[in-house]
Amino acid sequence: MEDLKRRAEVLMEALPYIRRFWGKTMVIKYGGSAMENAQLRDNVLRDILLLHYVGMKVVVVHGGGKEITEWMRRLGKEPVFVEGRRITDEESLEIAEMVLTGKTNKDLVARLWKLGGKAVGVSGKDGGFLIAKRQSGLGEVGEIEKVNPHILNILLNESYIPVISTIAMDENGKGLNVNADTTAGHIAGALGAEKLLILTDVPGVLDEEGNLISLVRFDELDALIAKVSGGMKPKLEACKIALLKGVKSAHIINGEVPHSLLMEIFTDKGLGTMIIGD
Ligand SMILES: Nc1ncnc2c1ncn2[C@@H]1O[C@H](COP(=O)(O)OP(=O)(O)O)[C@@H](O)[C@H]1O
Ligand SMILES: [Mg+2]
Repeated sequence: MEDLKRRAEVLMEALPYIRRFWGKTMVIKYGGSAMENAQLRDNVLRDILLLHYVGMKVVVVHGGGKEITEWMRRLGKEPVFVEGRRITDEESLEIAEMVLTGKTNKDLVARLWKLGGKAVGVSGKDGGFLIAKRQSGLGEVGEIEKVNPHILNILLNESYIPVISTIAMDENGKGLNVNADTTAGHIAGALGAEKLLILTDVPGVLDEEGNLISLVRFDELDALIAKVSGGMKPKLEACKIALLKGVKSAHIINGEVPHSLLMEIFTDKGLGTMIIGD
C-alpha cells in the first residue's frame, strides 16, 4: 500500500512537467559510451520511450564515433581528428555512412522496437532532409546549410520516433559527413524544439578545476566555447545554433547516469549543464 501510494505521488509530481512539455519537441543527441554499453544504452532508450509515451515529440540524433573508428581500423584506415572533427576522404565517408546509417542507426531502431517503441531511421539523404555545404580542408565534410524537417514532421505526427544518422548531401546529392552535435542543433532549431538535450560521457561542461558548470547564459556562450576543447566544442556550438533559432534551452548531460534524461526534464534544477537564452 505505502509503495503504491509513493508511486502515485511520484507520478503526480511529474504532472506539471508532463503538462508543460506535452506535444513539445525534444531533440536528443545521443553519443558517448552510453551508446556502446548495452545496459546503459537500454536505460537511455527506455527514458526516451517514456518521454514519447507521455506525449513529447522525441527526435533522436545519434553519433557513432567509436564504431566508425573501429570499422576504419578493420578496413585498414587510420582516422585523423582536428578539434574533435574527423578528416574524411571519399572512402572514409563511405565507411562512415555504412556504419552510421546501416548499422548504428538500425541497431537503435531495432532496440527501441524491442523495448516497445516504433522508431524510423532517417539519414540526411532521405527526403532531402539535411543539405550541407562542403567545408574546405576537411575532405568529404560539410556544414549544414538547410534542414527540411518535413519528413520528421510526418513521422512525429504519426507517433513515430525519428532516429537520425547525420550523413547529409550537397545540393547535387553528393554525400557529406556532418558533425552530429552541430547537426542536432540545426535540427532542433528547424523543428522549433523546446529543448536540445546532448547526452555524453561527462557530467556536463566542466570548468578549469573540473567542477560542473550548471547554468550558462547565452551571452556567456562564446567565451565558454573558446575555453573548452575536443568533443565539447561542437556540443556548445550546437547549443548556440539551437538557441539562436529559438530553442528554449539546451542541456549537456551525462548519458551514463541512469535516468539522467528524466532528471533533467522532470526537475527544475536538473543535473547537467543548462544553457538558456538571455
Ligand atoms: N570543459 C570541458 N568539460 C567537459 N568535457 C570536456 C571539456 N573539454 C573537453 N571535454 C571533452 O569532451 C568530451 C565529450 O565529447 P566526445 O568525446 O566527442 O563525446 P560524444 O561521443 O558524446 O560526442 C568529454 O569526454 C571530454 O573529454
Ligand atoms: Mg563527439
